Amino acid sequence: MTDQAPAPFAGKPRVLSGVQPSGALHLGNYLGALVKFARLQSEFETFIFVADMHAITAWQEPAKLAAQTREIAAAYLAAGLDPAQATIFPQSMVPEHLELAWIFNCVARLGWLDRMTQFKDKAGKHKERESVGLYTYPVLQAADILVYKATHVPVGEDQRQHLELTRDIAAKFNHDYDAPGFFPLPEALTEGPGARVMSLRDGAAKMSKSDPSDYSRINLMDDADAISQKIRKARTDAEPLPETAEGLKGRAEAENLVGIYAALSGQTAAQVLAEFAGQGFGAFKPKLADLAVAVLAPVTEKMRRYMDDPAEIDRILIAGAAHAREMAAPTVAQAKRLVGFLGA
Ligand code: ADP
Ligand code: TRP
Repeated sequence: MTDQAPAPFAGKPRVLSGVQPSGALHLGNYLGALVKFARLQSEFETFIFVADMHAITAWQEPAKLAAQTREIAAAYLAAGLDPAQATIFPQSMVPEHLELAWIFNCVARLGWLDRMTQFKDKAGKHKERESVGLYTYPVLQAADILVYKATHVPVGEDQRQHLELTRDIAAKFNHDYDAPGFFPLPEALTEGPGARVMSLRDGAAKMSKSDPSDYSRINLMDDADAISQKIRKARTDAEPLPETAEGLKGRAEAENLVGIYAALSGQTAAQVLAEFAGQGFGAFKPKLADLAVAVLAPVTEKMRRYMDDPAEIDRILIAGAAHAREMAAPTVAQAKRLVGFLGA
C-alpha cells in the first residue's frame, strides 16, 4: 500500500454510510437509509458498511452476529446496491477504522459526547451499566466516515447530531495538528421522503427496531399478511384526510401514514392528498397496505435469495473489505504521521 492519501475530490465525491446488524430491519431503515444508498451509488464513489463494531456496544449473541451481518448485506443488495459500483464490507474487517477512532477519542471532548441525545436515549436511567463503547460510539462513527474522507453521509434525521460531532472532530484535528483541510467536514444527506418514518403505534416516536411492540413497525422480512394487519391496526384519528399537507399538522399519525404512502409511491404528500382528500382511513389503509406489499415483496424475496447463498455474500464482503482497506490505509498513515508517532 502506498502512503499517498487518496484523492476523494479528484473524481466523484464520496459517500459513506452504515447500518448496525443489531436486529431486523424495518421500513424506516429501508426508506431512510437503504433506498438512498442505492440512489446515490451512480453519482458518488460509495462506501456502505455493516456496522458490526457499533452493534457490540450492546450485547450481541456471538453465535448470531455473523448471520445478522450477512442479513444487512443481503438487505443492501436487495435494495439495489451493486457491488460493481459500491464498496460493501463489514466494519470489523477494516481495522483502520479503529486506529483512527483511538486518535479521535483523544481529540473529542467529554463535553461533546455528554450532549449526544442518542446515548441518553439508549442508556436511559442506568448509564453506569452501559458499555464504555456505547458512550464513545459517535467517535467511532466519525472515524468510519473520515477514514475515507467521505464528504456526504446519507442517514435518517436521528443521525444529524453524530454528523455535527464528526465535523467538530475533523475541524479540531485539522486545527490541533496544523493540517488545514486534511479531513473534510462531511454533510448529512437527510432530505427526501422517508427521512423520519414514525411508529405505527405512536406518531411521536420514530419507527425503531428496539420498540418492544412488533406492531409499531413493518419489518423488511414481514409477509403480505403481516404488513396488511399492521397497517390495519395502525393508530389514526377519526377525521378524513385533508386537502393539503398543512391540514396534517397536529395529526402525527395521519401525517406519518401519508408520508409513508408518498415515500413508497415516489410522490409528495400533496400529490397523495390530491388523490385521497376527503376519504377516511377505512379507505386509505387498504390502499396503503397494497402499495407497501407491492413495493416490499420483491425486496423481501431478493433478500431471501441472497440469504440462501451466504458464500456469495461473504465473497462480496471480503472483496469489499480489501478495497476499503486500500482506500483507508493512506489516510491513517498520514494521520499517524501528523500525530507524531514513531515510524509513521
Ligand atoms: P434503529 O433506530 O431502528 O435501531 P438504526 O439506528 O440501526 O435503526 O438506523 C439505521 C439507519 O436507518 C440510519 O441511517 C437511521 O438514520 C435510519 N433510520 C432508522 N430509523 C429510521 C426511521 N424511523 N425513519 C427514517 N430513517 C430511519
Ligand atoms: N450510528 C449509525 C446508526 O445507528 C450507524 C453508523 C455507524 C453510521 N457508523 C456510521 C452511519 C457512519 C453513517 C456513517 O444508524
